[in-house]
Amino acid sequence: MDRQKKIVSMFDEIAKSYDLANRVLSFGSDIVWRRRACEMAYDLYGKKEISQITDVACGTGDMLGFWEKMAAKKGIEVKNYVGVDPSHGMLEVAKEKFPHFHYIQAYAQELPLPDESSEFLSITYGIRNVVEREAAIKEFARVLKPGGILVILEFTKKERFGVVDKAAQWYMKRLLPHIGGAVSGNKEAYEYLPNSIDNFLTTKQLVQELEKGGLQIQKIRSFSFGISTLFIAQKK
Ligand SMILES: C[S@@+](CC[C@H](N)C(=O)[O-])C[C@H]1O[C@@H](n2cnc3c(N)ncnc32)[C@H](O)[C@@H]1O
Repeated sequence: MDRQKKIVSMFDEIAKSYDLANRVLSFGSDIVWRRRACEMAYDLYGKKEISQITDVACGTGDMLGFWEKMAAKKGIEVKNYVGVDPSHGMLEVAKEKFPHFHYIQAYAQELPLPDESSEFLSITYGIRNVVEREAAIKEFARVLKPGGILVILEFTKKERFGVVDKAAQWYMKRLLPHIGGAVSGNKEAYEYLPNSIDNFLTTKQLVQELEKGGLQIQKIRSFSFGISTLFIAQKK
């Protein structure tokens, strides 16, 4: 099995316990990071009507849920919510939780969506898992309308290690695989998480890749001492 297929089948295996593991492992912080990402993106865009929000690597659909909740809070009307993910297992959970959204089983690097069809596109804790990242970024730029917003939340690789980073590393490498393993019954999947961060890009490198792909960075915000980073970019 190739690397990409292995990653997706791992998510298939942990799909049912994914949400619980997420909340436990982040001590609920991911809720705050997601809310802030939606708020900041909506404020930056400024419009009260949005034709489509596409969440790529949507997993169990949480981010779509946050887009919807925060839109209601801000009086924004979003006509269509679309979730895209190659994992059948993750999509099954998403459909149960949010049956009113539209879902497509597909890879980020081959989005079966028309050119300039989405005003917002998000990918949260997903881009790290995309093996053909450059092709995916090209797809994001193709699918976004001109002026459209790309939102990425991700755990990026650290350039320097302060005390907090060292503590976070210890937690991710030593403790997290045991807790994740206990919740999901799949320790290997939670050993993959810190390793995938080590093999990922720094914030600066991801910015460079996005800009090379024709996306203009509007905001970068790090949360919880840099554990999670938000990128908001706009299609020129
Ligand atoms: C860590 S989960 C994140 C799920 C969700 N976005 C969230 O914020 O909770 C990573 C997701 O990326 C998906 N994924 C892996 N490779 C992908 C690819 N090449 N294209 C799109 N999604 C991919 C997995 O199936 C999984 O659902």
